[in-house]
Parts: sequence; structure tokens; C-alpha cells
Amino acid sequence: MTSATGLRVEAPTSDLDPFCDEFLTDPYPGHAALREAGPVVYLSRYRVWALARHADIDAVLKDPEAFCSSAGVGLTDFRKETPWRPPSLLLEADPPDHTRARSVVSRVLTPPAVRRLRDEFARRADELVASLVARGEFDAVGELAEVFPVAVFPDAVGLAVDGREHLMAYAAMVFNGFGPRNAHFERSLRNAEQVQAWIAANCEPDAVSPDGLGAKLHAAAREEGYSPAEAARLLRSFLSAGVDTTVYALGNAVACLAEHPDQYAALRADPSRARAAFEEVLRFRSPVQTFFRTTTRPVEVGAPDDAVTIPAGEKVLLFLGAANRDPRRWADPDQFDIGRRAVGHLGLGAGPHACVGQMMARLEGEVILTALAGRAAELHLAGPVRPRLNNTLHGLDSLPVRVVA
Ligand code: HEM
Repeated sequence: MTSATGLRVEAPTSDLDPFCDEFLTDPYPGHAALREAGPVVYLSRYRVWALARHADIDAVLKDPEAFCSSAGVGLTDFRKETPWRPPSLLLEADPPDHTRARSVVSRVLTPPAVRRLRDEFARRADELVASLVARGEFDAVGELAEVFPVAVFPDAVGLAVDGREHLMAYAAMVFNGFGPRNAHFERSLRNAEQVQAWIAANCEPDAVSPDGLGAKLHAAAREEGYSPAEAARLLRSFLSAGVDTTVYALGNAVACLAEHPDQYAALRADPSRARAAFEEVLRFRSPVQTFFRTTTRPVEVGAPDDAVTIPAGEKVLLFLGAANRDPRRWADPDQFDIGRRAVGHLGLGAGPHACVGQMMARLEGEVILTALAGRAAELHLAGPVRPRLNNTLHGLDSLPVRVVA
């Protein structure tokens, strides 16, 4: 077997398809097989190298010099094919360009800026949860997970109210776009022109309200010497990454708690564990399952006794969701346990590209779980749970639950 760059593959090979419906629905048996096969497995179908062990993925994420992002963090190799949208100045960039863009965004998403959102987010979470709990039964995806981030996040950014439904459509495109051009990606490209036009128009400096994070980002970008068009592209990163990820995470959080009544009881007994519970959700049922890197030189992966050399210019698929259940890193990894120290999971990435919105994501998770634990004495599944398949995100389309106030 030869690799995409024409070199002999010196690693176990598999024809597993991590983007087929069966794998996207239940990735865990596939993850286990990949982890056990070795530190690196060559996926012949896509001609990419796959990593599924925690230590190896963690090391790759922290080594942008050998594993770059500028050739795309999806399957498409930007050096060989034209990306479907202009590359992100943040996600799809390497140092020093990345460092410069990241410093601008970090100046806006600061701990005090996120703390200032806390009271308002908590109030709105409680209001939403109270109205749902009063009804007794509701869809925890369609009526909770999808509603909350789409309400609070664009308000914090200062986006126009009209057309916010395009945010979910855009994110579906972005996250499907990291995989192959399969039916999921094609489906999400319906209305692409209209959706992309809305996103571009609403990232412009005069489209955002003067008091939101969007305006602050434009000001910080201007100070750093970015053009208005580049600043708009930086703001686009917020809109691509800040909504769907959280929608999937909140849906997964309610699902985990409904499926584990003992863990919900533990949260009810002490709602101050909401933050830890959300962290465990990100580990146990990671909303962002995969990202790619591209090697800039031949590089060894694995421990000295079983290391594999990946040649230069190859796409490397990192299974973050598999790392988060690696028994080499976690005791009882397939156990959902809100009492564990889930810190160190890779659900929000690691290294220089680690999620820049993580404080905001954690805040949203915490306020929703606090509200739920405060309002619902019991939480049960009340009907068939339907997955929402996406080439990168793992989560649900529908989660009917019954609660006791
Ligand atoms: C639970 C929700 C979220 C999850 C699971 C998540 C996950 C991730 C992951 C895994 C990465 C690493 C990408 C890489 O290494 O290539 C990342 C990066 C990023 N995230 Fe998040 N994210 C979430 C919420 C958010 C929010 C709310 C925002 C916006 C405020 C955001 C903005 C970003 C941006 C802009 C990047 C790129 C950072 C960079 O390349 O330096 N994310 N996220």
C-alpha cells in the first residue's frame, strides 16, 4: 500500500469508513478497534493516517510545526484542492499568522468579558428551563439545546436578529465540510449561497451592534492592523464555531443525564457540580469528534517501541472522541461519572488551537445544567432518541424527555 504522497505505508491498514452512517451513529466500537490496532492506522479508503490514543493526539495538537493547520483541518488538502470557503484566519492558520489572529480574539473573549455574561445567561437559562419543566414533556434538542445558544450567543456578539436561523445552517456546512463530499455535506450545502451571503453581510463592522463582542473584535482587529475584510473573516470564526458545537453539547448533556439516573441524582443533590458534569459530557460524548492536521515533515508517532513514521505532506485524522475514552488515560472510560476529574480531555482541543470560546461554552453548559437540576426532580427519556449525523459533530436531532417538577 502506498500513501497519498506515494510512499510505502509502514502501519496497520484498515478500510474502516469513519464518515459512514453506521460509524457516525455509534463511533465507539470503531474507536476501540483503532486504539488497539496501534498508535497510527492507515485508512485506505481516504488515504489518511488515523490516531485514536490520548497521548499521541495530545502531542500532535501541541506540535503545530510538524502537524500544521494551514493545509486545512478537514479532509481537503488546501495545497492540492481549493477549499469550499476562504480559509479561516484562525482555525486554518499556523504560527506566526495564527498567533497574531489568536491574540486579537483572546483580547475579546477574556475571562472578565465572559463573567459579565454570566448573570444574563443564567437568568435566561432558568427562564427557558422553567417554562419547559412546567410542561412535563419536551424535546431537549429542538426546544432546549437548539434554542438556548441561538438566543444568547448572537445577542452577546451583537448580531442582527433577522435571519439567525442561518447560523445553524452555516455551522452544519462548516462541520460537514471537514469530512468527505458525502450526502451529509451535500445536504448541508442546500441554500449555501443565501446562507453564506447572510454570514458575510452580518460580519461587517456596521452590521454588529456597538456594545457586543463583535464590535470589540472589529476594534481589536483594527488596532492590530487587520483590514475590515480580514476582521470580518475573524468574526466569521465565532459564528462558525460558537453555535452548533454548543447545541450538540447541550443535547448530549441532557441525554447523558437522562440515561444515567444515578448521575442526575448526584447533580440534583449538589447543583454546584454542574460545571464538572458538563466537563464529563465533553469527555464522554464529545460534540466535536475529529479534526485533521497535515504533516510538514516526516514525523514519528507513538512510543519508541511501536512508533510509526508518517511521511511529509500527509493528512492525519485525530479522533478526539476516541482519545477521550482511551483506557490508557482514563479509568473506566466508558462510564459516565460526573464525580471524575475530566480535565485533560481533548473535547475542546489542546495546544495553540484549543477552543478559544471554551469559557463561553462552559458557561452555557453550566447555567443550563444548574437550571435543570434546580427545577426538575426527575429526568427520564420519553420516546425514541434520534441522532443528527454530521461528518464532525456527534449529537442528537431529537431527545424527548419527561421531567417531574
Ligand atoms: C461545547 C462547545 C464547543 C466545543 C466542543 C468546541 C470544540 C473546539 C475544538 C475541539 C477546537 C480545536 C480545533 C483545532 O484544534 O483545530 C475549537 C476551536 C475553536 N473554537 Fe470551539 N468549541 C465549542 C464552543 C465554542 C464557542 C462557544 C466558540 C465561540 C465563542 C468557539 C470558537 C472556537 C474558535 C474560534 C476556534 C479556533 C481556535 C484556533 O484555531 O485558535 N468554540 N473548538
